[in-house]
Amino acid sequence: SNIKKMETTVGRHRRVIMFPLPYQGHVNPMFQLANLLYSKGFSITIFHTNFNKPKTSNYPHFTFRFILDNDPHDERYANLPLQGMGAFSRIFLFNKCGADQLRHQLELELSAKDEPPVSCLITDASWHFTQSVADSLNLPRLVLRTSSLFCFLIYASIPLLDDLGYFNLSDNTATPLLDGLGYNNVPDDERLEEQVAEFPVLKVKDVIKIGFKKDNDGMGDIISNMVKQTKASSGVIWNSFKELEQLQLETIRRDIPAPCFLIPFAKHFTTASSSLLDQDRSFFPWLDQQPRNSVVYISFGSVAQVEEKHFMEMVHGLVDSKQSFLWVVRPGFVSGSTWLEPVPDGFPGERGRIVKWAPQQEVLGHEAIGAFWTHSGWNSTVESVCEGVPMICSPFWGDQPLDARYVSDAWKVGVYLENGWKREEITNAIRRVMADEEMRERSRALKQKLDASMIEGGSSYESVESLVDYISSF
Ligand code: UDX
Repeated sequence: SNIKKMETTVGRHRRVIMFPLPYQGHVNPMFQLANLLYSKGFSITIFHTNFNKPKTSNYPHFTFRFILDNDPHDERYANLPLQGMGAFSRIFLFNKCGADQLRHQLELELSAKDEPPVSCLITDASWHFTQSVADSLNLPRLVLRTSSLFCFLIYASIPLLDDLGYFNLSDNTATPLLDGLGYNNVPDDERLEEQVAEFPVLKVKDVIKIGFKKDNDGMGDIISNMVKQTKASSGVIWNSFKELEQLQLETIRRDIPAPCFLIPFAKHFTTASSSLLDQDRSFFPWLDQQPRNSVVYISFGSVAQVEEKHFMEMVHGLVDSKQSFLWVVRPGFVSGSTWLEPVPDGFPGERGRIVKWAPQQEVLGHEAIGAFWTHSGWNSTVESVCEGVPMICSPFWGDQPLDARYVSDAWKVGVYLENGWKREEITNAIRRVMADEEMRERSRALKQKLDASMIEGGSSYESVESLVDYISSF
């Protein structure tokens, strides 16, 4: 009905071309932004790979162009993995060889007579190759950065943190023991607990858990190019809000000359229409029966995987907590299993429900949900903040360990399970978060700040208005 309402606001004179990174955690915020810009009167064209193709029937109001991987026989990508970490190899490949195709498609759009003129290109920050293509066509490129501002600042400091020797320290909760350099002759495990001088909220071990460093395996290159081409862009859009990351915003404004727009997307649109998997809704009658704040919602996003022995620690930790739960176990989440083979007979029983994929935002907004056990992906984190739900954080890699630290130590709206998968610790963390009324109150207060930023005169409201004005000025 939202879309129906929007379709009546015809007379679209300007067009925006949007180009998401084709993974669930990146596609969701880009389509939320696309819906938002459409609601503000822009015509929307989406560039997308065939890989992880969105359900275009959910977007009859957008125009789609499929680019980069149209030839099913091209050996460079025809046989790349569709699932797991291997699926990310497309980020490297298309950043290297996508420029000509992108330029060709953009030239077609720019010269199209029967469509509104193109105001700008908005791409995911990790499509760093798009900046020089846009420059060559004199087309402004805006960046959508789908993680936090603090993550960007920390990623931008990876070379510095690497020079400090942090990545040579060993952290046996994250990775197999590395060959420590005996930095300062202090045993590694003591240094791991130290604050990072440049980012006092962080501990050294959080930095190690990012999992990639300066020029190690190609990921370091992607990150440094992402940072460089984001700084070179005409503007940056963040899935966040000013009151959450005020200091980081001030720092970033010194680093990036172009304007920044902080928009908490989950407050505008849900991600239901850009979901790549079908969302199970069959548990709602059960959830509706549960008392207020009594159910733990558990989900680890679209990519994370665990070993079976760790999965079993999770199962036992949950059972021992005696709390009710709704658990999203994505097929393939447990490595070596197609879905739920390892769970014991009788699990989950009456106390729990397990589904393959859920309408996450709607679940987080349900009054029966009392806590979110999450991998601390940034979308999940923002969605939880939007609904005022306290978190139990079990991050895997990348921005997740950083998000977990900010959630637990800076905003104090969650508990960080930082020693891996141990059933007693899981049980304790779940019980603590469910019973901690002060944490629940802080989560509620943070949500209220966010809600206040959404009304006229508030920071998030103004961000949307100034983004619309800015794009209209091109
Ligand atoms: C990835 C990275 O892991 C994350 O750290 C980064 O910030 C963005 O890209 P992902 O791991 O999938 O994303 O996590 P997250 O950012 O939390 O995104 C998951 C999305 O899937 C959320 O929008 C969530 O609402 C949605 N989801 C999740 C569902 O719709 N249903 C589910 O059952 C689970």
